[in-house]
Amino acid sequence: MRTLVVTPTYNEAETLPGVVQRILASVPSADVLVVDDGSPDGTGALADAMSVEDARVHVLHRLAKNGLGAAYLAGFAWGLQRDYDVLVEMDADGSHQPEELGRLLEAVGDGADLVLGARWVDGGAVRNWPLRRQLLSRGGNLYVRMALGLHLRDATAGYRAFRAETLRRIDLEEVASRGYTFQIDLARRTVRAGLDVREVPITFVEREAGVSKMTGDIVREAVWRVAVWGARDRTRWLRGVVSNRERTREV
Ligand code: GDD
Ligand code: MN
Repeated sequence: MRTLVVTPTYNEAETLPGVVQRILASVPSADVLVVDDGSPDGTGALADAMSVEDARVHVLHRLAKNGLGAAYLAGFAWGLQRDYDVLVEMDADGSHQPEELGRLLEAVGDGADLVLGARWVDGGAVRNWPLRRQLLSRGGNLYVRMALGLHLRDATAGYRAFRAETLRRIDLEEVASRGYTFQIDLARRTVRAGLDVREVPITFVEREAGVSKMTGDIVREAVWRVAVWGARDRTRWLRGVVSNRERTREV
């Protein structure tokens, strides 16, 4: 399976080189695409230098910081045009262990359409992550389960492996969320498409350099978008029930 690891960057110069080396050491057959949003700290130039050194490393430069979701959508389009079989999401700050990537790819090889590297499942763990972020993540996932009826323990996970066909099926043009809500949006669309979504345990290790780009606006976008999706999904479900009732009455 031709695999592309898409890693979005905004000011990750201190961690990106180590992460790329670890990816290439862990899965030597994989390619890496760095999607850099014009990082002022020179991440883009670093990525270019790595791509000169190693043909497996590619760089997509974007002009301005436009959100995690937009960066992944651009990276996925790049990978789908080049017929990769599997496209992986991985943070560039060292939070996702490249050494665990084999576990996600194995599940895709076993037939999964989307594999989430999950923190909140048996065997999953977080290290050095502030309690505030852990509560936000656990609370956010509980909210997602209740509002959307998704039976996933970590729908906001940012470490994932998509079968390319999955991304073609879920119509990426429609994905509006730009921030981290993007993670919930893709999980929801994949489940609703009736595809095989699995969660495998991973250990999330908080970054040791640089700063998180998570902001209050990103959290607020997640709260209102999930509420709208939940209301829409319920209305759709209710309409289905009503029209089924009418059909049985006619029979
Ligand atoms: N190109 C680009 N543009 N990259 C971005 C942007 C952006 O606007 N915002 C964030 N990134 C990159 C970061 O450079 C990093 O490589 C990765 O996305 C994750 O960003 P962080 O800011 O480190 O995220 P986090 O650690 O606070 O949040 C984690 O948990 C979220 C919720 O579970 C990440 O794993 C997220 O992916 C996850 O959704
Ligand atoms: Mn991080």
